[in-house]
Amino acid sequence: NNIILLGAPGAGKGTQAENICKELNIPTISTGNMLRAAVKAGTEYGLKAKAAMDAGALVSDDIVIGILKDRIAEPDAQNGFILDGFPRSVPQAEALDAMGVQIDKVIEIDVADETIQQRLSGRRVCLDCGATYHVEFKPSKVEGICDVCGKPIVIRKDDEPETVKSRLDTYHKTTEPLKGYYEKQGKLTSVKGRETVEETSAAVMAVLKGCL
Ligand code: AP5
Ligand code: ZN
Repeated sequence: NNIILLGAPGAGKGTQAENICKELNIPTISTGNMLRAAVKAGTEYGLKAKAAMDAGALVSDDIVIGILKDRIAEPDAQNGFILDGFPRSVPQAEALDAMGVQIDKVIEIDVADETIQQRLSGRRVCLDCGATYHVEFKPSKVEGICDVCGKPIVIRKDDEPETVKSRLDTYHKTTEPLKGYYEKQGKLTSVKGRETVEETSAAVMAVLKGCL
């Protein structure tokens, strides 16, 4: 089963992906996490991606499509995967179709822009394993420490309010048209993302159980 999670920055894609991944036993492929790992490791494409990421803009399609293509070819992705943060533009969706990747379901997590700032200002992330927390809504068991791997959790560089604004603009301009793209293919279902993490998870799982 190949699933796409669509939604604004901070809508809860990463949070819901962690849950689906456990329920369906398929990996989450997050282009954002892969890019952050590349920046941290100082690889060639990490260096190229950094400026765009810090500015809240999109990294170029050729870089992102390249890393995605390599990732879905890995053995653990052969029984299905959850895409979190890809595709993010119509050309990226077309590239996925051109690779012959069959998408079973696209779930949009719908959250109002007003809620986004609140979510992202309290977010903490583990740069090591990618786990996501929120100081108020999803605290780690020990303050400042990742539950999963025990490494420190930090504020993401692109979560400053000004950068969040740019990311929201980019989302509405470039990513949101994907709703129409997948609606035409009959694959899109929208889920309200403003409830608690658990309530949103239940709604997402209900959609998946109904169609997979
Ligand atoms: P990426 O890492 O994909 O960031 P994003 O899309 O902006 O999404 P986020 O990770 O910010 O949010 P999320 O929806 O996963 O929310 P989360 O679950 O963390 O991309 C980063 C950058 O990389 C991009 O800006 C771009 O530069 C580049 N990039 C990545 N992919 C690319 C691509 N395909 N093409 C080009 N460039 C690309 O939740 C947010 C917070 O809210 C957390 O603290 C969480 O605990 C909390 N929360 C979640 N759900 C709830 C709830 N129901 N109630 C209360 N709190 C909640
Ligand atoms: Zn961790």
